Amino acid sequence: MHTTKTIQDEILKLKKERDICILAHAYQSHDIWEIADFVGDSYGLSLEAAKASQKTILLCGVRFMAETVKILSPQKKVLLSQPQAGCPMAEQISTDQLMALKEQYKGYTVAAYINTTSALKTLCDVCVTSSSAVQIIRSLENSKILFLPDCNLGAWVADQVPEKQIQLVNGGCPAHAGIRAEQVSQMRDLHPDARLLVHPECLPQVTRQADYVGSTTGIMDYARNSTDQSFIIGTENSIVQHLQYACPEKQFYALSKDCICSNMKLTTLMDVWHCVQGNGGEEIRLPDPVMTQARRCIDTMLELAHRPQNNS
Ligand code: 13P
Ligand code: SF4
Repeated sequence: MHTTKTIQDEILKLKKERDICILAHAYQSHDIWEIADFVGDSYGLSLEAAKASQKTILLCGVRFMAETVKILSPQKKVLLSQPQAGCPMAEQISTDQLMALKEQYKGYTVAAYINTTSALKTLCDVCVTSSSAVQIIRSLENSKILFLPDCNLGAWVADQVPEKQIQLVNGGCPAHAGIRAEQVSQMRDLHPDARLLVHPECLPQVTRQADYVGSTTGIMDYARNSTDQSFIIGTENSIVQHLQYACPEKQFYALSKDCICSNMKLTTLMDVWHCVQGNGGEEIRLPDPVMTQARRCIDTMLELAHRPQNNS
């Protein structure tokens, strides 16, 4: 009879023997966190993808993340552990719609959230992630920015970078955008001493009430390093559980019990086991011109994110 522990031990043994690096997004389940080489937010995953030394990378997360890994490491074999796991936001704008928007907003720099398809990235100027967006948008020379597809992340960035004229497009994450402002008052009434930490994919009426707004990694780091003892978490609810393991002496409450990403939840430890055995997942293959074109806007993000900031 297999247990979580015996499966995890076998995955750890096989990934070493077969030179596989396992990258997991922070919304993956805790049993997957425990066997991953790296767990992080979308920005951290793209940095790790570029520097991993193994021949094969197994991505536990959603499709656009595996595509980003492939674009950054085209010579490597890149597997998506669960082929059905996609991000609905990544499909919200088609290439035809973007061509029409570019026609409408001539002279704008097109900034795409990394939660987009590689085909869409070929038409954009720069990518952003939730943790890099403010710095990237601030460093762009152009003052006119077309920001897509998440209008909530875009509105939050626009609040932080008022000197830019940011044109938003209707789109967003169904899980985060489902959190309502009234839930903030209800949870603050129940836990008056708790800090409210939320993801910028939430609605502006939610982020504007938060004590801290940041990426999944940003939220976890804030809670770990804070001297406060209790926190209301406004992001995918797996983060509540991961924080409970990371800081067992502190209290964590979900801002909304419904903030669950069904796509992130698709990958199981058994999927990972099948992948490292060589009979699971999907190898990501992208046409060379798509990889070359899409890489430009990811590289621009990495370059701008490393540039020293001038906030004055
Ligand atoms: P980050 O991990 O970059 O915060 O993104 C959250 C998310 O929704 C990923 O799909
Ligand atoms: Fe997409 Fe939202 Fe799920 Fe992230 S949490 S993968 S943005 S649907």
